[in-house]
Formats: sequence, C-alpha cells, structure tokens
Amino acid sequence: MNDGRLDEIVYEIMNCRNCTLHLSKKNYVPGEGSESAQVMFIGEAPGREEDEQGRPFVGNAGKLLTDMIQEILGLSRKDVYITNILKCRPPNNRDPMESEIDACFPYLMRQILAIDPDVIVCLGRHSARVIFEHFQIPFRSITRDRGVLREKEIHGKKTYFIATYHPAAALYKPPLKEIIEEDFRTLASIIKRKNKTLFDFFS
Ligand code: URA
Repeated sequence: MNDGRLDEIVYEIMNCRNCTLHLSKKNYVPGEGSESAQVMFIGEAPGREEDEQGRPFVGNAGKLLTDMIQEILGLSRKDVYITNILKCRPPNNRDPMESEIDACFPYLMRQILAIDPDVIVCLGRHSARVIFEHFQIPFRSITRDRGVLREKEIHGKKTYFIATYHPAAALYKPPLKEIIEEDFRTLASIIKRKNKTLFDFFS
C-alpha cells in the first residue's frame, strides 16, 4: 500500500468500506491538525458529537483535551495532529472490535508515517494497547503504564510514546484530571527538551 501524503490518506478514509461501521456512522472522522505536527494525539473512536461534525475530539472530552493542549503545552489544535484508532463511530459508543481495529489500523500507520511526529500520545487504554503492542512496547494496563515516556525508532527516527487516561474518564472521575495534567507536563518537558536540542544544533 502507498503510504501517501495526508490528504490522500484522508481521501481514502472518506471512501472507506473496510468494515461495517461505515454503514452506521454519520460522518467519517479522519483526523485533523498540522501535517508537520511534532505531537500526535491518538484517541479511541469518534463519539456522538464527533460523528455529527466529522471532527475528532469536539465534544466535552475534546474541550478538556483542547484546554490542556493550550494551557499545559502552550500549543493550539492547529499545531498538533489529533486522530483516533477508529475513524467511524461505533454504535452507542461501544468498545472497538478487534476486526474494526484491524480494518482501520493501516490508515493510522500511514498517518503516523506521513506526519512523522516526535511524540505520539495515546489517549486511553484502547489506544495505548493497540499502539504499544504494534510498536512492541510492553503494556499491562493504562493505570500501570501511563505517564512514562518510551522511546522507539520509526523508520530510523527516534520517536517518543506516552499514554495517559482518556480525557472522557476525567469527566466522570474528576481526580483523573490531575493525573492527565501531570502526564501533559511530562509531555511538555520532552517537547521543550527536543526543541532546545534543535535550537542548540542550529545556533
Ligand atoms: N473520544 C475519542 O476517543 N475520540 C474522539 O474523537 C472523541 C471522543
């Protein structure tokens, strides 16, 4: 399969029939943000609001995510790339099925290769399990493995991975918000460190 540039991948997603979710969805939700994003966020699957709008993380969980991107990372949604493991909403927001993940995963891999981010942030246990397993990073549970920076090479480039709780979890369990914020501060520190190395290199 051709890795393609981001707009080609998005075009293919918008015409996808690889699983049955395209029959029940309202809109495909391919992802959005900068093609040259340093940070890529990967959630689970579109919810009701995302399905309505065709955009990722635009509901209540999305508001929390957007606020943390701005307040802790000092970035806007346009600076990063936000997508999901699944590009179509599962009916009633049920968990993704393995067959759906397998059908959708090639798009995500191509998005990762096209964007070539420095850091991949997995939001929630489904995203963390799928991504960590693919990149052969040990994963036991989101509770045990969140907040730790991992390093792997993707096509010869050192890439960081970090998992945190899904922002939706903080909506019904408010103490989790502080933990997600702590993980975002770890994320901020690696972005700062990376950018300082680049600055030192060019100055
Ligand atoms: N939850 C997700 O995992 N992704 C979205 O886009 C919205 C909510």
